[in-house]
Formats: sequence, C-alpha cells, structure tokens
Amino acid sequence: MKKSDVSLGFGCFFPGTEREQVTEILLQALEAGYRYFDTASFYFTEEQLGEALRQAKIAREDVYIATKLWINERGYDAANEALERSLSRLGLEYVDAYLIHWPKGPDPAEDWTALDLETWRAMEEQKAKGRVRELGLSNFLPHHMQPLLDAGYKPAINQLELHPGYGQEYAVAKSLEQGMQVQAWSPLGRGAVLTHPLLTELAGKYGASVSQLCLAYLTKRGIFPIVKASSMGRMKENLAFSEVKLTAEDVSRIACLPQVGFSGEHPDSTMPGHR
Ligand SMILES: NC(=O)c1ccc[n+]([C@@H]2O[C@H](COP(=O)([O-])OP(=O)(O)OC[C@H]3O[C@@H](n4cnc5c(N)ncnc54)[C@H](OP(=O)(O)O)[C@@H]3O)[C@@H](O)[C@H]2O)c1
Repeated sequence: MKKSDVSLGFGCFFPGTEREQVTEILLQALEAGYRYFDTASFYFTEEQLGEALRQAKIAREDVYIATKLWINERGYDAANEALERSLSRLGLEYVDAYLIHWPKGPDPAEDWTALDLETWRAMEEQKAKGRVRELGLSNFLPHHMQPLLDAGYKPAINQLELHPGYGQEYAVAKSLEQGMQVQAWSPLGRGAVLTHPLLTELAGKYGASVSQLCLAYLTKRGIFPIVKASSMGRMKENLAFSEVKLTAEDVSRIACLPQVGFSGEHPDSTMPGHR
C-alpha cells in the first residue's frame, strides 16, 4: 500500500495503557478501517501492533506500517540493530517507513550531525535490501535536515507536532519544498485544542466535531494527520473528517490562532521524558 492511498494515519503511542488493551484498541482501529499505523521503538507498542495485524489476518500489502528509531539508536551499527529489533517485535519482513524519531540527543556536546548522517547511511542500505520501503524524519527542523540534504539524501517524510495553534510554518514549508510528505503528530493537540472557542464555533457551523475540524484543516494545508483514539466511536468519528469541506476563509481563521496546545517538546531544547 502507498501512503497516498490513505487520508488518515492511526497513532500507536499509548502511554500507561495495558499491553492487552493496546492490542484490542489496534484491532478495533483495523476494524474501523485504519490502514496506516504509526509506531516507534520508544512507544513499546510494536509487538502489540504485530499481534493485532496477525489476529486480524490482514494481508501485509493492505497496510502501511511506519516505525522509528529512538535517540539512543542513532549511528550506523545502532540503526541497523534497531531496525532488526523493530522488525522482530512487529513480526514483519519489512516496514513501509522508517523514521529517525528525534534529530539530536540531550547532550549539548553530541555531534548530532555526524550521528544522523551515519544513521541515514545505514537506513539507505536497509532500503536497498528491501527491509524498508521509505525513509523519513521526525521532529527535524530546517537546520536539522540540511546536513542530510547537503549529502544528497532525499527523506520521504517529516513528522512534526502540528495542529491548530501550532503551525511550524517554516519547517512545513521547507519539508514540502524538498518533496517530503509532512505528517502531523498530535493533530488534536492531545485534546488540548478541542475546547477552543473559535474551533467549537467553526465546528458548529460545519455540523462537525472539533476533532474532525482539526483533521480537515491540516489536510487542507497539505498535511497528513496521525491521530490516536481509544474507542470505536472516536475512531470512526475521526475517519469521517473528510466530509468537512472548509472554506479558504475559515482555513485562514484557524491558521491565525495564537499558540495553543503546544506539547512543550522542542527538538533543540526539550524532548519526551527530558522536560
Ligand atoms: N514523532 C513524534 O515525536 C510523536 C510525538 C507524539 C505523538 N506522535 C504520534 O502521533 C500520534 C497522535 O498523537 P497524540 O496521541 O499525542 O495526540 P492526538 O492524536 O492529538 O490526541 C489524542 C487524544 O485525543 C483524544 N481523542 C481522539 N479522538 C477524539 C475525538 N474524536 N474526540 C475527543 N477526543 C479525541 C484521545 O482520547 P482517547 O485515546 O481517550 O480516545 C487522546 O486523549 C501518536 O499516537 C503517535 O503515533 C509522534
């Protein structure tokens, strides 16, 4: 399956949820119709995703599976080993996309440019071997991606925190200009934007939910959203976002929101677990 065949990805980051329950939620997501799944070694849900795919007896070519290597899995040997571990946990022969989760580690003395270049070199070799179909980035701002671009590498994806109230315009423009698919993580701001007065007003105007409005807005901006939900009702509600047809004026109103719902995680200063 190509990523262009689907309009919405399903996020597999379930901190604090029991592993059996995660498998159950992922089975529901497959039943609801999701076919693009975004996981990471850092999420500890690769095994549950593999289990759900096997239980659902879904054909491998009918799903798109993306995973990521974590900060301490960067480097040539480390990246090769990390991919083998991810494939083994997923129980798959290949992943559709493999992403560098975060451009740099917490140590200011780290030569993150060299590490990212070595990581990418390993990823290119794994792609040539057929263990990965597409290679991508996550949380790479323009100055993080530049060394890879200068080396002639062509990432297919950049996944960034993006939602109404957090637009990262410069990183989005640079990624699109370089031909990457821009993906939104936390497209609902982890729920923080769902009660915003402008968004609730506009959702009412379209007869939609605020979550549908957020997903429709991102899509209208040329961005592929990856959303997480834990119930069948919310999964289906989110999938139905494509029925919401926003006017250019309303897209502009949402784009002008002041910052709201920012996670606080920034690749140059803070990262998950290091705040
Ligand atoms: N690359 C990165 O660094 C990075 C970082 C964070 C996340 N991600 C990826 O992005 C995915 C999504 O991000 P996220 O989980 O942080 O945030 P999110 O998708 O913006 O928000 C998820 C939250 O919204 C709730 N929700 C979902 N649908 C809803 C609806 N229709 N109505 C009301 N509430 C709804 C969920 O509740 P319930 O679960 O209770 O239904 C959950 O609390 C992750 O799972 C992961 O795959 C990537």
